[in-house]
Amino acid sequence: MAKLKHLVLGITAFSFCLFVSTASNNLLAEEKSLYDKIGGTDGITTVVEAFLTNVGGDDRINARFANTDLENLKMLLIEQVCEATGGPCTYSGMNMVDAHKGMDITEAEFGALAEQMSKAMMSSGVGQEEHDTIMGVLGGMHDDIVGQ
Ligand code: HEM
Repeated sequence: MAKLKHLVLGITAFSFCLFVSTASNNLLAEEKSLYDKIGGTDGITTVVEAFLTNVGGDDRINARFANTDLENLKMLLIEQVCEATGGPCTYSGMNMVDAHKGMDITEAEFGALAEQMSKAMMSSGVGQEEHDTIMGVLGGMHDDIVGQ
């Protein structure tokens, strides 16, 4: 009887250890993607809407978008950010060189647009770390956009 008790205790303890180690492995394996950290498609939509409102109110750059289909641009920006942050989307627009070819976008205009994106993320509650990572991604597109 005592032997059986020990066996049951042993099995229980072993199962518990197995459970704890599996759970902690899962926690490590399931590091959230940037997409999840910024609230998925809903979070991205909030940021992109704030961004387009900001751009519309910025006289340094809003004239550039006078003839733009803003609903279409919004859809493309959501796709682009979603894909770039590891979300389940495929960007269906042009690459950044082709999209901005012939516009001769200046350094100042690029800076203004980046500033509006930064403000949009701040006002939408994106975390500082995620904000900085996304600003880094935008910075990496600079040469494909400025002076094309
Ligand atoms: C990192 C910065 C930028 C990103 C990620 C970006 C992204 C995009 C995207 C996704 C499109 C749509 C492409 C398509 O139609 O397939 C686009 C178009 C455009 N972008 Fe940018 N852009 C950036 C910077 C700028 C800047 C600095 C300006 C000017 C101030 C600008 C002006 C435009 C204009 C005028 C269009 C065309 C819209 C239309 O079709 O009427 N972009 N951009």
